[in-house]
Amino acid sequence: MSRISFFLCALATALCAPSLGLAADANAILSRQCAQCHALSKPADASIDRLWTRKGPDLYYAGSKFNQPWLVEWLQNPRRIRPAGEFYFTHIKATPDGDVIDASTLTSHPRLSKGDADAVAAALMALKGPDDLVRKGAYKKQPVPAMIGAMFFEKLRGCAACHMDKPGQGGQSGPELYDAGLRLQPDFVYAYIKQPQRFDPHVWMPQLDLSDTDLQRLTGYLMTLQDGSPK
Ligand code: HEC
Ligand code: HEC
Repeated sequence: MSRISFFLCALATALCAPSLGLAADANAILSRQCAQCHALSKPADASIDRLWTRKGPDLYYAGSKFNQPWLVEWLQNPRRIRPAGEFYFTHIKATPDGDVIDASTLTSHPRLSKGDADAVAAALMALKGPDDLVRKGAYKKQPVPAMIGAMFFEKLRGCAACHMDKPGQGGQSGPELYDAGLRLQPDFVYAYIKQPQRFDPHVWMPQLDLSDTDLQRLTGYLMTLQDGSPK
């Protein structure tokens, strides 16, 4: 081997090996530490039992759903997204004042180091889900006056019965949406609001048959919500 080609090989190994190593590590972390709770490929079993007994939200379309910088940060410093954990109905207790979340039954999410979070977030971003699940470009980026957006979300379309759009304000049976603009991709939000059951046939968010104008308005409103995270 000539000296120059030896040098090129050494350089290529030095440049490529760490990234190959990183991807391999990320997939090992996903299968050893995450797959017991999260579906990383589309589940063959689409039954209601599967949904009711799953231990964490599906991640097989994570790359079409999340913003990567949010994932990197959250995997190091996870905080609650679903106020009652993965499955609302199992963490509720009846009290004389009505149903409340029984926080003693909630567990905290595993945490990753910065290096592992970078690698795992990159591996999750490669999981796009089926081609037709989230249509690119569905959201048209029209600005929505905040008051109009909030009025549709909170009053006219009933979303606030299940979701918070400000910390402490809104329902607790769905994921919080007060930092949706940081966490979620707009085309995912549009697709989810349009037809939640395409993501899971038994998910209990209603399909409301909203017009495109409504879908644009609600998505546009949610994308403006960025800094509601409790510090
Ligand atoms: C013991 C079960 C369990 C394990 C193990 C686990 N998770 Fe989770 N994960 C959950 C639950 C429950 C939630 C929902 C938390 C919430 O909404 O507050 C969640 C939420 C998430 C979310 C946000 C999903 C969404 O749709 O909002 C991501 C991303 C995530 N986990 C990634 C991981 C990764 C990566 C690993 C492995 C390093 C992992 N999880 C290990 C149970 C688990
Ligand atoms: C009856 C309760 C209910 C109502 C009403 C409801 N949702 Fe949902 N929503 C849910 C549940 C449950 C999920 C998914 C739960 C999961 O993945 O853990 C969800 C998921 C979502 C998601 C995806 C968020 C994520 O992190 O995965 C968005 C976006 C959303 N809803 C927006 C809306 C909007 C906008 C409205 C009003 C038009 C609305 N929802 C009305 C219960 C509801």
